[in-house]
Amino acid sequence: MYILFRTAAVLLLLNILVGKLHGIRWLAVKIPSDVEWQKTNCSKVHGFIGGQYKICRRSLPIMRYISEAAEMTKKECKSQLQNRRWNCTTISQAPSFYNDLKRGTKESAFVYALSSAAVVYSVTQACSIGRLKENCGCGRTPKTKLKNKDWLWGGCSDNIAYGVRFSKKFTDAVEKKRMDGQEPAAASRALMNIQNNEAGRTAVRDKLATICRCHGVSGSCQKKTCFRRLSEFKDVATLLKKKYDNIITVVSKTNCRQNHYLKAKRGKKYNSRDLIALDASPNYCKVSRGTYGTVGRECNPSTTGKGSCPYMCCGRGHRTFTRVVEERCECEYVWCCYVRCKKCKRTITVSTCQ
Ligand SMILES: *[C@@H]1O[C@H](CO)[C@@H](O)[C@H](O)[C@H]1NC(C)=O
Ligand SMILES: *[C@@H]1O[C@H](CO)[C@@H](O)[C@H](O)[C@H]1NC(C)=O
Repeated sequence: MYILFRTAAVLLLLNILVGKLHGIRWLAVKIPSDVEWQKTNCSKVHGFIGGQYKICRRSLPIMRYISEAAEMTKKECKSQLQNRRWNCTTISQAPSFYNDLKRGTKESAFVYALSSAAVVYSVTQACSIGRLKENCGCGRTPKTKLKNKDWLWGGCSDNIAYGVRFSKKFTDAVEKKRMDGQEPAAASRALMNIQNNEAGRTAVRDKLATICRCHGVSGSCQKKTCFRRLSEFKDVATLLKKKYDNIITVVSKTNCRQNHYLKAKRGKKYNSRDLIALDASPNYCKVSRGTYGTVGRECNPSTTGKGSCPYMCCGRGHRTFTRVVEERCECEYVWCCYVRCKKCKRTITVSTCQ
């Protein structure tokens, strides 16, 4: 009885240490990205923790890009995983997440990486278009050589270094604090989050494109000037989804100096591009805390793999029926200035899980 009680108490404590301090609580930011932040806005309602209040008060002009990053993260997470059993709807619960995003799952790994990438992305973009003149401008000329010696670096390269630095400061601010405590579960969780945040930032860097423009006598294109530009955020997210599908499971270890570190299972290795998870995920088939199950989810009976009915319905089977939808059709432009459409009815076939 005593042991049981003690276990419960330890579990409760772990939950408080590990659970309360999610590094992604800030996805709850309540101010839309088209509004400037005031000092009084840097408050608890946005899910900030630890160093994030100070960063907020010191970097007010940048905060709207934190709002933008939160919006991008939620939108892109849902869009990337729309055909999966776990489809990211619970991200909207921020700052009080369920177990799927509270624990060290691969879903957590993906959301941490995506949100940290989103901060890099939106801050970097703001620098390039001159919205943060006090803080940053164009990036430095890249050190790498271009393919052709007649080509030169020139123009305004995106200032990813600034975006990376800001994202690291903002997203890792929460984790550093947890590392200080010697509580092993909290420390290993912090290590996991730091790795996944880093993988997110690396993905933005890896997706940078080199764009070149021609110069020279009437289109001869003898000289080119080139600069580095962000790809679409969707491409960054697609890369991270691949890492999510190849998640590396890690276990927590302690060395002789009592320092905590993580080690991949079964002798695997990982680098700064990989996503890692400490906890196994459920299959998200049935309803439980943090999962809505897949009953009633739409599935595609004519594919295999993710999104197919056998996958989505977890073998419970599906039913197919027709539904009449109304949509706008035969639209025409009416001078001046609107579009007039008719309403058409169309019958579509839908399959949903039982
Ligand atoms: C942000 O601060 C301004 C000025 O203090 C205030 O008017 C506004 O309501 C605040 N917005 C939010 C969402 O807290
Ligand atoms: C995501 O899943 C939930 C429940 O599992 C469902 O209600 C919702 O419609 C799904 N979202 C999309 C975009 O399919």
